[in-house]
Amino acid sequence: MSKKKVAILISGRGSNMEALIKACQDASFPASIELVISNKKEARGLEIAQSYGIHTQSVNRKNFPNDHEFDSKISAILKENNIEIICTAGYMKILTKEFVESWHNQIINIHPSLLPDYKGLNTHKRALDDGVQLAGCTTHIVESELDSGQILMQATVPVLKDDTEDALAKRILRMEHIIFPETLKRIATNEFRLNK
Ligand code: GRF
Repeated sequence: MSKKKVAILISGRGSNMEALIKACQDASFPASIELVISNKKEARGLEIAQSYGIHTQSVNRKNFPNDHEFDSKISAILKENNIEIICTAGYMKILTKEFVESWHNQIINIHPSLLPDYKGLNTHKRALDDGVQLAGCTTHIVESELDSGQILMQATVPVLKDDTEDALAKRILRMEHIIFPETLKRIATNEFRLNK
């Protein structure tokens, strides 16, 4: 079996990245993590990736005149490494339209809400403030409009009576670590009915 070559883009903690790395350690998993790129050199996820022997790189936006040049550099690194699938996992930077279009249907993201509800930041607080009974997470194809691409998988959790933002976030994160690797597997084996 030839494995699909994957890069993960991160900015911080890297727990979703680690879930993807662990899934890819299984000999029968159809993808392999070739590279982790962070836009923050202090990202904790970089050390975690290195502890698994994965090649890492950090690229600082401040060294580029604009987002376009920055994303071109990221694209060049991905191409040099023959990357076929990009996972954004807590990557706190909006990708340029050019980047997204040049990797059409090849970028997948995890978002901590049941999209299309609660796009953007502070998803758990907004869900709690609204008094919703169900919350969750979504994997989706990345399009240039934020958190708006085709939904691939979702998992729901109950919001409990005395929930805090932190408790809800932890409950959802456990589900993120399940659906993101499952989504990667199905992308790698071309199982989804993707929009053209
Ligand atoms: C996760 O909740 C993810 O859904 C969101 O950012 C957070 C990243 O956490 N996009 P981690 O870096 O994967 O631990």
